[in-house]
Formats: sequence, structure tokens, C-alpha cells
Amino acid sequence: MTSPILLRSAGVALLLDAGGPQLPRVLHWGPDPGDLDDDALGRLVADLQPGVARSAFDEPWPFPLLPGQVDGWTGRTGLSGSRDGLAPYPNLELAEPAEVHTDGAAQALTVRGMDREAELEVGCELRLEESGLLRVRHTVTNTGDGIYALDGLTALLPVPDRAGELLDLTGRWCREHSPQRQPFTYGTHARESRRGRTGHDATLLLVAGTPGFGFRSGEVWAVHTAWSGNHLHLAERLPEGAGAGGSGILAGGELLLPGEVRLEPGESYATPWIFFTYSADGLDAASARLHQWLRARPQHPRSPRPLVLNTWEAVYFDHDLETLTRLAEQAARVGVERFVLDDGWFGARRDDDRGLGDWWVAPDVWPQGLRPLADRVRALGMDFGLWFEPEMANPDSDVVREHPDWVLTPSARSWRQQVVLDVANPDAYAYLLESISGVVDEAGVAYIKWDHNRDLHVAVGTLSGRAGVHEQTAAVYRLLDELRARHPGLEIESCSSGGARIDLGILEHTDRIWGSDTNDPLERQLIQRWEGLLVPPELVGSHVGDTVSHTTHRASSLGLRTATALFAHAGLELDVTKCTDDELAALTAWAGFYKEMRGLLHSGDVVRADLPDDALLHGVVSRDRREALYAFVRLTTSAQEQTGRLLLPGLDPGLEYDVVHRPEAGAATAVEKSPTPWFERGAARASGAVLGRVGLPTPRLDPAQAVVLHVRAL
Ligand code: DGJ
Repeated sequence: MTSPILLRSAGVALLLDAGGPQLPRVLHWGPDPGDLDDDALGRLVADLQPGVARSAFDEPWPFPLLPGQVDGWTGRTGLSGSRDGLAPYPNLELAEPAEVHTDGAAQALTVRGMDREAELEVGCELRLEESGLLRVRHTVTNTGDGIYALDGLTALLPVPDRAGELLDLTGRWCREHSPQRQPFTYGTHARESRRGRTGHDATLLLVAGTPGFGFRSGEVWAVHTAWSGNHLHLAERLPEGAGAGGSGILAGGELLLPGEVRLEPGESYATPWIFFTYSADGLDAASARLHQWLRARPQHPRSPRPLVLNTWEAVYFDHDLETLTRLAEQAARVGVERFVLDDGWFGARRDDDRGLGDWWVAPDVWPQGLRPLADRVRALGMDFGLWFEPEMANPDSDVVREHPDWVLTPSARSWRQQVVLDVANPDAYAYLLESISGVVDEAGVAYIKWDHNRDLHVAVGTLSGRAGVHEQTAAVYRLLDELRARHPGLEIESCSSGGARIDLGILEHTDRIWGSDTNDPLERQLIQRWEGLLVPPELVGSHVGDTVSHTTHRASSLGLRTATALFAHAGLELDVTKCTDDELAALTAWAGFYKEMRGLLHSGDVVRADLPDDALLHGVVSRDRREALYAFVRLTTSAQEQTGRLLLPGLDPGLEYDVVHRPEAGAATAVEKSPTPWFERGAARASGAVLGRVGLPTPRLDPAQAVVLHVRAL
């Protein structure tokens, strides 16, 4: 018996057969086949049943939600675990008819399944959001008497054979999220993280697409696991295929360590949300579905994203009231709206060897507390932000001396002279909640930069004695929520030695991510390009640093630095009291421009062109397509003398536009005798069709230069 379920939204469809006896079988995830009446749907489901393979099972085998050995699936299974070695092959059957209902603009499918013999119950939630984004979450409950040791619970979906190429991201400190591509061959491509945090090398999205797919072309299917602890993303292809859906699958889930989740009778484990996004038009459209969903959340930051000054690369640990007051005053003159005091204000933390974890204001450095600075900052019209690294402590700190039993990682290798505290330990949790809360109240902190500077590494729960990453991650989410509930309006940034904790799990509990510890704009252009696949610009922090980057020691023009930070939640991270008058004038003009453009930058569709590696073109186009801001970035010199035409993606072909160069975004140097007359005039007028299909001659720039173009419909 078949029982079709078709969910459709924004060009995406998910087709299942919920006729039982196993969990609903996934027949299609991808392009929308259009409106199908009951007859057509019935015929389609019948036609999509797989055939019998040769030298294989005697019956066709389907691909249900949570596929396993019992279903004939020999790849990585949806649910795995055992009862002391018994019940190794869950046999999940539909417990009641699957239900579809609408929840706001989303269509939600809920499924309950059971393995009566193994005494397990599962729940599957699938939500096709208005933007076409598909979110999946599975739950398993131990309905038996003994303990069920869970090894993994993973969401898998089939992708068609034509998805022949994989893209994922890797990276390191100061070079997060670097792309790598390969053919989607048979076998398993697993991106697993055992770092206890998301990681600089986290893939963010694991993408399968039609060979050669780019930002603007090709079909793509992608998965993201919204979790900030150990996690996995899988692309797997088997010769016998994944039911009728194709020979490959994409999957995501939390990566559980041995013994980490042992379900007592009646206990449940729920996966994080696993996000699946499809696009018929390249990566941009897959990414737009994620951005649209994020922006529709009730807690998404809606107030204008304030221009930040962060003190780290301006003063490092060198704190004193007078210096920082001067810095704040100069920042306010430039137009800064949020002043963030970074590491070094507490305990004995005069360098990174000691004091971490002692969340009380250092009396030797701040004899009157933080109030005098915070009050001055507010009097200057800015709000006051403060750095914490709640999960961490230096061994040389009062907190570790007094509570060595709170250390989650006593046998971990040394890493930045710090250990990790067990936030799942109620006493450690209460200490963090109360001490952070106290400082927030005392200084009137509006914004926390929440850092996390090491992998957890051999994390063992202080009370359970078991692998403790799952509990730690869940406890940190709770702590973030409790602090936000106690301090309404408090914003929190997720920083992790730069961009090592960027995922949609942490973004449920925070308001911004710090993109990277490198403020070198050439590095940042590449990093932001790929981080931006997952996270829209208003949630990505990016700052204008010094002329010579503190992390790469490369010099860059102020224009490239400002044009780079502009396409994000922008800020400054340099000693503005040492800037020349010309630099201050340029920064002030740029700050004004950021404020003029942030409404567009933080609400429009992000577009990225597919150009050769020596240049980038990216932009943001308003939802009504009447306005856009683009940056053309010449990364290196080009082998070509004339670099062809620039096609501006995302405009409405039927509208007429003015294209205006906006030097306030950042001044650029052009090669001498530039033969690009329209650019020398600083403006052009053309239709969206011309700009998108014929293009304008590319401005001839020196290397490491960027120009910003403002495009408005007449
Ligand atoms: C790492 C962060 O990413 C930096 O921005 C800075 O806050 C330092 N930690 C402070 O220790």
C-alpha cells in the first residue's frame, strides 16, 4: 500500500511514501514537480518504486527515514546503538499514520516509529520552511527496562546521480573555511569533528552538485548540522543506490563518543536540527534559503547593527582607564556605536598565562571598577561590550586552584595555557552564571564577546566520568539562554579564536559570529565569501584592522580594509588615536556610508559571481531588486591586460539602473591610463538585462584593491 506525502515550497519538493510498514520512504528531495492531483501523485509514487537488483536482496528495498540494515541499507545507518551488545539492528516500523500540518508558513511532517522488540521509539520531524529550506530532527526514546547505549542518530536524504561533484570547506586559525572540491565517487566522504567545538575547519555546508556548479549555476544539494560540539557531515554513494532517490546520500548529525549517550529507561535523545538546502541555480540560491530562514526567526537582530570598535588589536592586554577613554572618545568621533573591551580586564590576566576564569574586575588595573569607562562610553553615545571566555580557565587562576574538580579536561594537552571547565557541572555552571551576571549588571554590559579558544580534547564529565562533549555543548546553550533571559536586550557574539564556532546551533543562542582572527582584508575576502554561504552579513563580525595586519604582517590599503568590513556587521579594531587626519576623515566617511547602507546590506540577497581566482565580485541586492551594492575586488594582478566585462548578478532585467562608484566605501588605486571610461566618469546607466547579461568593462585596478558600486533603479 502506498500513501504519498508531497511537501512543496519555493521551488523545492520532498516526496515520501508513508504507506508503511517501515518509516516513510524518501522518494525525492529536490526540484518541485509542480501541483500533482491525487491520481498523478499515486502514479508517480508507484512509478518511483525501485526494482530488484541482481545478486542482491530478492525484493526491492526502499530508503526510509532513518535507514538501517533491516531495510537493506548497507551504508551508514540512521540509528545505531545496542543494549549491552544486543539489539544491534533497529527495525523501525511506523507506529501511527504520519501527519502533515502547517506551522506558520512551514509544512511540518511528524512521524512516530517503533521497534517493539528492541523497545525503542523514534520521532521524526521534517519541516519544509517557506524559503524551501528543509529541517530535520530525530528523537529516540528508550521504552525498555535496561540501558540503551546510543552510538548515533543521523538524518540522511538521497540525492540524485547527477550530483556528481562535492564541495566542502576546511581551514585553520586565521584561514577558516577554505573550499575543496572532488568528484562524488563511490564510498564515504565523511567530515567529522572531534574537537568539542565546531572548528576552524568545519565544513559549514557539505554540498553535492551537478559537475561544475558555481555560485550562480548548477543544481546543488547541501547539508548543515546545527551543533557546536562534535558533529558529522557525510556524503556517501553505494552501487546499489539509496532506494529510488539516487545512488548517493547526504547526512548530518551529532558525533557521539563511546558511552557518551546512554539512555536510561524512559529517556530520550534528540538530534540537533539538520538543515538541507537545494537550489536549481547554484550556491547563492541554496544559501539564500538559509539566510531567509534565519532572518524570519523572532530573535533575529532587527535593530541597525551598530558600528563596533573592539580594543583587542588596539591595546591587547595594556588596559588603563586613561588610554581606553581616549580610544573611546576618538572612536565616538569617527562614528562608532558600540565599544567592546576585550581580554585583560579581570583577575590576574595581564597576559594570556594567568587569571582566565576569574570573572571579577582586576583592582590593580581598574581600581574604580569598569563603571568609569562604561559610563564614559555611554555618555559618548555608544553601548558597552565586554569580553568573556566562560568555558575556559588558566591553570594559574583562583578558580582552578579552588575548584580543580571543575576541570573537564584534566589530561588534555596544554593549549594556550588553558583548560576547560565542565559547564555541565551544576556548581561550575552556577559560578559562571552568577559571576558573569554580576559583571554585566555592575558595568551595564549590553554586549558580550563570548570567546572559546581551544578544542575540548579528551573531555570527561566531572560528575559522570564519561565523554562530556554532548553535555558540555548543551550546558553552554543553557547558560547563554539563561544569561539572555536575565538580561533582556543583552547581545552575545560567538567567537572561538576567530571563526571556530560558527554554526546554526550557536546562532540560536547568540547574535553575531566573529568571522576570523585575521583582519587582513585579502584573507577576509576569501573567508567571508565562504562563511557567507551559511550566515548572512548582519551576523558576521568584520573589522578594519591596522595597515600592517597583526596576523599575516601584510600591508593593505585602508580602502580595501573598509570595503571588506562593510559587507558584514562592521567594526574597527585598531588604535584610532594613532590614525592620521586623512585616515580619520576616510574612516568617518566610511562609518557614515556603512550607516547609510546597512539597511540594504543586512536585509538583501547575497550574490557572488563566478570569476577566475584573481578577482571577486560580490554584492547584496534588495529583495525588490531596486537597489544593490557590489564590491569588485582585484585580489592579485591578472594575466590578462583587459579583464573583460563585469556582469552584475541578481538585478531585475526589466528595470533601468544607475550604477555609481562610491569611494566613501574605500578608495582604490587604478592602473595608470585606465581604459574604462565609464569607471573614470564614476557612473553608468543601463538596464538590469544589460548589466546582468552584457556587463560593463571591469575597472582596471591595482592588486589588492576594491571598488564598491551602488546600483539604484531609476
Ligand atoms: C581570540 C579572539 O578571537 C580575539 O579576537 C581576542 O578576543 C583574543 N582571543 C583575546 O584573548
